[in-house]
Amino acid sequence: MADKKLTLNDPESDKTLDLPIISGTQGDPTLDIGNLHKKLGYFTFDPGYGMTASCKSEITFIDGEAGILRYRGYPIEQLAEHSSFLEVAYTLVYGDLPTSDQFTRFERDITYHTMVHEKLNTFIQGFHYDAHPMAILSGVVGSMAAFYHDKLDVNDAEQRELAAKRLIAKMPTIAAAAFRHSMGWPSAFPRNSLPYADRFLHMMFSVPAEPYEVNPVAAKALDLLFILHADHEQNASTSTVRLVGSTGANPYACVAAGIAALWGPAHGGANEAVLSMLNQIGSVKNVAEFVKRAKDKDDPFRLMGFGHRVYKNYDPRATIIRKQCHEVLSELGQQDELLDLAMELERIALEDDYFVERKLYPNVDFYSGIIYKALGIPSSMFTPMFAIGRTVGWVSQWLEQSSTPTRIGRPRQVYTGATERDYAPIKNR
Ligand code: ACO
Repeated sequence: MADKKLTLNDPESDKTLDLPIISGTQGDPTLDIGNLHKKLGYFTFDPGYGMTASCKSEITFIDGEAGILRYRGYPIEQLAEHSSFLEVAYTLVYGDLPTSDQFTRFERDITYHTMVHEKLNTFIQGFHYDAHPMAILSGVVGSMAAFYHDKLDVNDAEQRELAAKRLIAKMPTIAAAAFRHSMGWPSAFPRNSLPYADRFLHMMFSVPAEPYEVNPVAAKALDLLFILHADHEQNASTSTVRLVGSTGANPYACVAAGIAALWGPAHGGANEAVLSMLNQIGSVKNVAEFVKRAKDKDDPFRLMGFGHRVYKNYDPRATIIRKQCHEVLSELGQQDELLDLAMELERIALEDDYFVERKLYPNVDFYSGIIYKALGIPSSMFTPMFAIGRTVGWVSQWLEQSSTPTRIGRPRQVYTGATERDYAPIKNR
């Protein structure tokens, strides 16, 4: 594609500049503004980076208008139907679906690293019993750099790969330990004979007093949720991981920062917020009133689980989860009136001009909480569940970034503060 000419709408300057176009294999073309300041003296203003590509990446493709999500080219719908979370993890990390041998080796490697250093458990014990598990998760993951520091050379591909595997393997162990701490239960060790999602459920809910059998319906549902959350290109937490990664920081520090970013209610914290919102609405008859509040600019209330920076169509993950929600509840023989409430909320919102005009659709978090609740997972653990799945995306993106030359991430600003003024002694102020 030919370069585009940029003409400034500035009466004091008649300068123009040819901007090279960067085209990926798919997606809208992107203007390369690298020379803009040097040639014309301008920076660009893009709060929230909604119009800015921060990197080139081969990992995940989203077409928000069409509601398309693909990992390494594979449609999310196909992966959700045929794959497993660990196979998706391999694919995101290495680029292609694994052969049988490659998968066996990968699964063995991940399984081998599931245990955490016993001293990390003492960290968890040090937290107050009512600490939010996301606070524990970010603190403990950050501290991993202190335990695995002998293999922290980010310029060494083998050491990077090992750190990535450790993070994928240990995240469920740490998340489950955070939950058990809040319950006052003794630690549970990972049972390596179990598959990934089953192992996590076992670590969450087994107690020494009686046997615990993992429910295969629950394990399958959880594995699917991990797949759906595994990556989502340059979202806030992944961009945080990359920004921290751009400084050359160690992977545990990068992922701990990603966990902190994920916790916010505008991002991964939305799944927990959706459930509180549904509880707050309480009954189908109150839905209209809450939809009205969500539209009122003077009311801070928003419909949690609705809207997305990139999707201006139904989030394809929400379509899959919505279906799964019905299946899981029926297979577990449960009924949850929150599901009826959620469906009514969705119906009313999708007919409302406010939501239609702004293209606000349910996102991945709208239904996930109802499934987690059906699996017996408390709402404070919803965002840690998201973090377990997204760890794969974080490490894949960090590995991609670390294997290519990267400039430190350092945005500009439009300064709107005081211009130069003189210091005044305190007695004169
Ligand atoms: N409820 C009511 N109005 C909304 C909502 C909502 N959930 N989301 C967006 N809007 C409105 C905004 O008020 C704005 O209206 P305006 O044009 O009249 O000012 C318009 O829609 C555009 O919204 P923005 O805030 O500019 O959209 P942005 O891309 O910055 O934010 C976000 C996206 C953060 C996801 C937002 O839709 C939101 O807060 N949703 C609720 C939280 C949520 O579900 N987060 C999870 C996202 S998915 C994920 O991270 C896994």
